[in-house]
Amino acid sequence: MATSTTPNRGKWNSKLGFILAAAGSAVGLGNIWRFPTVMAENGGAAFLFIYALLVFIIGYPVMVAELSMGRRAEKNPVGTFKSLSSNKIFTLAGFWCVICGIAILSFYIIVAGWTISYFFEQIFHYLGFEGAAAFVADTDNGWLNAIVAVIFMAATISINIAGISQGIERAVRLLMPMLVVIILILIVYVMFQPGAGEGLREYLVPDFSAINTDLILAAMGQAFFSLSLGMGALITYGSYLSKRENIPEAAAYVTVFDVGIAFLAGMLVMPTIYMAQAQGLVVFDEDGSLLAGAALIFQVLPELFHEMGGLVGLIFGATFFFLLSIAALTSSISLLEVPTSYVIDEHKVSRKKAAIVVGSVVTFISLFIAFDTSLIGPIDQIFSDIGLPLGGFLVCIFLAYFWKTQNAKLEVRQGFENIDDHWFWPVWVVFIKYICPILIALILGSTIYGIFR
Ligand code: PFF
Repeated sequence: MATSTTPNRGKWNSKLGFILAAAGSAVGLGNIWRFPTVMAENGGAAFLFIYALLVFIIGYPVMVAELSMGRRAEKNPVGTFKSLSSNKIFTLAGFWCVICGIAILSFYIIVAGWTISYFFEQIFHYLGFEGAAAFVADTDNGWLNAIVAVIFMAATISINIAGISQGIERAVRLLMPMLVVIILILIVYVMFQPGAGEGLREYLVPDFSAINTDLILAAMGQAFFSLSLGMGALITYGSYLSKRENIPEAAAYVTVFDVGIAFLAGMLVMPTIYMAQAQGLVVFDEDGSLLAGAALIFQVLPELFHEMGGLVGLIFGATFFFLLSIAALTSSISLLEVPTSYVIDEHKVSRKKAAIVVGSVVTFISLFIAFDTSLIGPIDQIFSDIGLPLGGFLVCIFLAYFWKTQNAKLEVRQGFENIDDHWFWPVWVVFIKYICPILIALILGSTIYGIFR
């Protein structure tokens, strides 16, 4: 169980720096684009209920597990699984993390690119350049998708090359509160529009008959995706964490912040969908499913900003998409950091070279998605709904039965001195040994059974 201390590896400057970076990773397109879309496709409030339950029952314990493994090993996911146990088979779990990171990032940058396109769409619309506005709004334009995705990846790579700088930490400190304020103002506006009440009801009043295995799988996938779990992002971020910090406390902040933003985003988007419907826009199919799928948010929200009209509409619209790109950027950095840190640690390549090579490979893969955006749905489903929970399952099994909880305790104790007297530890152990892996296995198992039945 050799663990090396690598003095030259980066470290977060402060506790706040880490929490902001981890919250930045968690809060992203998953909250504002994926969550409302998946929820609207899965019966609204019933989904919200199951999602919130799974976040706290499975997500939070797994987050503590990932952070403590990463901080102990001070390595990327592959190196972490390799170094914390003499059983090397789990190195494969580390590779699974890297593969999921690459797959998810390859569609993530396409959607993130749309946030850039729509920033300009809002400006062009305000200026009356309707041709240009329609051009940048076309999410089926492969070349445009490719160009904005490349721009977004270039921004991600350049930040990863610089490491986790004070600049990013400071930027997130300013931008995250701005995001919250803008969302709150938009919610207030939407609430007074016709149709919004129906959307709010759909969002907040659960119809428990809508709960089925598909919904539960989607809610579990969303919990993992939104909290950045199951692909080693938080193993990697934990590897830069100081031994002074209290891991369960930091994880609690990140979880609550992430769920809070997702909840607010739902409060904005669900009523907006119904509001758009009240205005005659077709958003639902005859069978009740959403028409636009992945692009829904990019069709309904811009309409809302246009409706607001004038300079106010422009300010809201452009700011919203700008902030959404920032939220996406602070997440894509962490997605790229997983394979990049693997290449740096395991192949002794410089950070600069590693980030450029990995970023270019991911961009190449994403070009296929740029020209056929219908690939986003299946790739997202395979890697987010199945891949991430599978990664989380492997983390639980590895920690509980190979690294062992008593070793985890030695790690978590640093920064959490009264761990022996605290109820947290015995409860967490039960979750990580039994409840989380059994629940994940049951949900994944019943889905796979459903597919082959
Ligand atoms: N949590 C991010 C979001 O909600 O947009 C996406 C993500 C980032 C997923 C990092 C997984 C990950 F490791």
